Amino acid sequence: MTTEASYNIAVIPGDGTGPEVTAEGIKVLNTVATACGCRFDFTYFPFGGDHYKATGVVLSEADLAELGTYDAIYLGAIGHPDVQPGILEKGILLNMRFHLDQYVNLRPVKLYEGVDTPLKDKTPEDIDFVVVRENTEGLYAGAGGILKLGTPDEVAVQESINTRKGVERCIRYAFEYCRRRNKGRKLTLCGKTNVLTFAFDLWERTFHEVAREYPDIETDYAHVDAICMWMVKNPEWFDVIVTDNMFGDIITDLAAMIQGGMGIAAGGNLNPEGVSMFEPIGGSAPKYTGKGVINPLAAISSAQLMLETLGESAAAGRVENGIITVLRDDLKGVGAGQMGFSTSEVGDLVADYISKSETTER
Ligand code: IPM
Ligand code: MN
Repeated sequence: MTTEASYNIAVIPGDGTGPEVTAEGIKVLNTVATACGCRFDFTYFPFGGDHYKATGVVLSEADLAELGTYDAIYLGAIGHPDVQPGILEKGILLNMRFHLDQYVNLRPVKLYEGVDTPLKDKTPEDIDFVVVRENTEGLYAGAGGILKLGTPDEVAVQESINTRKGVERCIRYAFEYCRRRNKGRKLTLCGKTNVLTFAFDLWERTFHEVAREYPDIETDYAHVDAICMWMVKNPEWFDVIVTDNMFGDIITDLAAMIQGGMGIAAGGNLNPEGVSMFEPIGGSAPKYTGKGVINPLAAISSAQLMLETLGESAAAGRVENGIITVLRDDLKGVGAGQMGFSTSEVGDLVADYISKSETTER
């Protein structure tokens, strides 16, 4: 007899279209739970622009402490037209990353059949890689300051912080992930060793030292500017890419476009020893709020990533098969209003596929 695994999930639907897409992710999670014999308890949190406007609080210490007691966090979108840019992003997203020490930002980049890529002649065979982005250091650490603010002599300094410990744990995660993924068994370090000779000296040395423990993984290096070229010209060269926070931010937006855009792209903010947060990459899309035109597949993909990270790989596989089937057989497009179905109909299609597909024994 096996005991049913049970997970407590904190849900932050957030702003704009966030609630519409998270609802579909939860629909799919509940369906796959029944099919795979696990169970989810969802607790909803109101954080986002409206909560901030009503209370003046973005996310308190107590809120962070409470979020830290869940098995995972599932987020919709953050961003409100009446709130100055930066307040919610820093107060919620970055605050969670730092406070919960979510030191890896994991971004699978996969072109599914039936999805258009702007890259001429590239097919799903060519676009299937994962970016492991360091998520708590670098230029995002907030080190620096402004002197003589608002005067002609003003000086602004923003430093990139790279610690041996922070760099090493991220690189080690990338090697482990690459081995587990078992696809190309190749890890590419993305840096800028020709100019950023301090920060990327540390990255490069650490990369080669850790690599000795993974003789089964091929290693490669590319400068960040070159990686932007290759990602467009030869995306098939990549299996897993590891990089720092700022470069990772930039190359994952490029990567999201070649996999079909924001309707599809999902990511995880991982603390492999703690509480991780999963989110679709797209923003809150205020102008589409309540219209039911946003593609929920990015949110459903982030739920799949959550299942994988929780160790529910059979359930994750079923969700991915649902996504693959719906993209191939049903959807007419992936962009807002181009699907031929509403947001909730797309969620229904995936959920129906999962409940109809044969139950796999765990
Ligand atoms: C991302 C986002 C965030 C980042 C913003 C919203 C703070 O762009 O997750 O990539 O820059 O990391
Ligand atoms: Mn970004």
